[in-house]
Amino acid sequence: MKKLVVLTGAGMSAESGFSTFRDAGGLWEKYPVEQVASHDGWLADPELVNRFYNGLRRQLIEARPNRGHELLAALEQHFEVTVVTQNVDNLHERAGSSRVIHLHGELMKVTSSRDVDNPHCIEELSADNYEVQPGQKAKDGSLMRPYIVFFQEAVPMIETAAREVSSADIFVVIGSSLQVYPAAGLLHYVRPGVPVYLIDPQPVSTSVEGITFLRKKASEGMEELTQLLCGRQE
Ligand code: APR
Repeated sequence: MKKLVVLTGAGMSAESGFSTFRDAGGLWEKYPVEQVASHDGWLADPELVNRFYNGLRRQLIEARPNRGHELLAALEQHFEVTVVTQNVDNLHERAGSSRVIHLHGELMKVTSSRDVDNPHCIEELSADNYEVQPGQKAKDGSLMRPYIVFFQEAVPMIETAAREVSSADIFVVIGSSLQVYPAAGLLHYVRPGVPVYLIDPQPVSTSVEGITFLRKKASEGMEELTQLLCGRQE
């Protein structure tokens, strides 16, 4: 089986009703990124940050995977698929994708603010119990925080992701403005000659040449990609 690696961004989940970040009316217009998604913002006001992610979780619980997520999961019948996502939602998993690498953390998980990547401190929240309360502590007694990679923090999964990309036979980007590093730099790990597809309704600027652009939303773009790769629709 050929290996298909897919990098997804906020646009992948747009049709599920989950906000994109940089589009007009996106999340960063409503909530300044410095306040809710940076390490300094967390230190300045952890309660505000936890409240913000409580709200995002509520939105995620109500959201459903869209046709794009489903078609991507269905490609596992034809390819060895790895999804590398910048999204913190769990819509790929809920659609059935079995190998998902989260670069920027996971919204439905919380952890210690002292030892963020300690597996003993990472806890999965549920739809019935998804709110972090003011002052709530993680297992090591430190303040509980979202399991999210904030700006100014390292991206621990980037090397794993780069290894996946450098062994891809086909590479696809869906719904990412490719403005945030190191994720955007993954494109440079694609081996020469490997076909690259980019699905986005808006133009996306990149220095990489030879990309096949599918100027469509994730759902329609995935229909077209499925046809291109498998010769028929699922
Ligand atoms: N289908 C596909 N793409 C879409 C759709 C859609 N229905 N709607 C919008 N888009 C595209 C936009 O045109 C844009 O190019 O999705 C892209 C979203 O870009 P961003 O909002 O910048 O999201 P992303 O690239 O994932 O941001 C990367 O930056 O904000 C931080 O940590 C956050 O993970 C995020 C990272």
